[in-house]
Amino acid sequence: MTDDVLVVHGGTPLQGQIRVRGAKNLVSKAMVAALLGETPSRLYDVPRIRDVEVVRGLLELHGVKVSDGADDGEIVMDPTNVESASTDEINVHAGSSRIPILLCGPLLHRLGRAFIPDLGGCHIGPRPIDFHIQALREFGAVVDKAPEGMHLSAPNGLKGAKLELPYPSVGATEQVLLTAVRAEGVTELRNAAIEPEIIDLICVLQKMGGIITVHTDRVIEIQGVPKLHGYAHRPIPDRIEAASWAAAALATKGEIEVLGARQADMMTFLNVFRSIGGEFEVTDDRVGRPGVTGAEGGIKFWHPGGDLKPVALETDVHPGFMTDWQQPLVVALTQARGLSIMHETVYEQRLGYTDALNQMGATIQVYRDCLGGTPCRFGRRNFKHSAVIAGPSKLHAADLVIPDLRAGFAHLIAALAAEGTSRVYGVNLINRGYEDFEGKLAALGAHVERL
Ligand code: EPU
Repeated sequence: MTDDVLVVHGGTPLQGQIRVRGAKNLVSKAMVAALLGETPSRLYDVPRIRDVEVVRGLLELHGVKVSDGADDGEIVMDPTNVESASTDEINVHAGSSRIPILLCGPLLHRLGRAFIPDLGGCHIGPRPIDFHIQALREFGAVVDKAPEGMHLSAPNGLKGAKLELPYPSVGATEQVLLTAVRAEGVTELRNAAIEPEIIDLICVLQKMGGIITVHTDRVIEIQGVPKLHGYAHRPIPDRIEAASWAAAALATKGEIEVLGARQADMMTFLNVFRSIGGEFEVTDDRVGRPGVTGAEGGIKFWHPGGDLKPVALETDVHPGFMTDWQQPLVVALTQARGLSIMHETVYEQRLGYTDALNQMGATIQVYRDCLGGTPCRFGRRNFKHSAVIAGPSKLHAADLVIPDLRAGFAHLIAALAAEGTSRVYGVNLINRGYEDFEGKLAALGAHVERL
């Protein structure tokens, strides 16, 4: 498809200012939470990305009226008349996102039944949903898997439960929160995910009338309430997008100020960025100065010149180094002098994109062993999940096909850092999670055009 190809003339440092809005991985869940309220909810700073459109479509199919509010990026969701949708209508969204699985609890509370299509999302491993199904069954849901998707009912209502996740899964923790908040009685969730986006979802649910306590050691306690009302919320900024642009600044030897980026959510990333020789300045002190309106602060990232330093890293659940920060950073690590190690411990197949970087001149070897850190779940299961990156490498242009969202952005950065003209195929996939990335590239002085 020719309308899905970006021609990138690389070799120019990216310079300038861009802004990130609400985090994709919170906004989509907060939209689902709106289904639980009896009155309208208002969400600000919603990015224009495909995942948001998918959730909006699903909400509308279930009778939620979604409209744009007065502010740019503001949406209003009115769930007063929630209704069932037909399997065929819902299936239009099959394969387009992971979010539909999170509608289970809210739909069971509102309608007593739910149908969930086959899931989509990025192809970065098998991405099972066994933790979700197990938790829903413990709440009392009846789950029937069928070829067209999953049918659920709750003949005796949903009741609080004592649960422990085998791994601190983000999605399964959200599933439990969105179900327990209106279930009868108390739910205790052990080994929960505690990503900032999860804490922000808890803030949303608390605004709606929920009673949720985050204890130490990954324990979350939820006291079910019979009714919730709508919320008004300004989401946590997108720390994955912010880190992607930071890596782009480093890889292209440029300087990018990411307005809206927040230090507290990115501390782990910032430490790594500094260790490899990148520089940053937190610019939130500008907020409130005369002539500055709104949340104009952010973080400025730049390459100070000279060699970057190698690093040994492993991805992990929060507060570890996020799996979604890995791919863009590896592009920058191809420019570090020496051997870097990246041990991916969250997804078993998230290093496939390194083939394309090698094709462009990088020297990256992937291994089945757990390198450079503690052994992980994938070590004995024959997955190539550790990478050794030898640098610095001079990257040259290539024709690239985007495999998934984050790897796609990494491809794009590599093409921008490389000398010569690359063609990046499947570039529309990037719209799933990066709002107006072409506009932002233009603002940063990149030389790109649609084929
Ligand atoms: N897992 C299971 N069974 C389950 C659920 C998860 O084995 O029932 C495993 C997964 O296979 C994976 C690990 O647990 O190995 C972690 O998965 P998790 O459930 O935490 O991921 P997710 O909720 O599906 C979200 C984000 C991802 C992000 C991960 C980790 C959304 C929509 N997606 O996925 O974001 O990488 O958490 O932080 O919130 C992206 O934005 O590009 C993206 C992939």
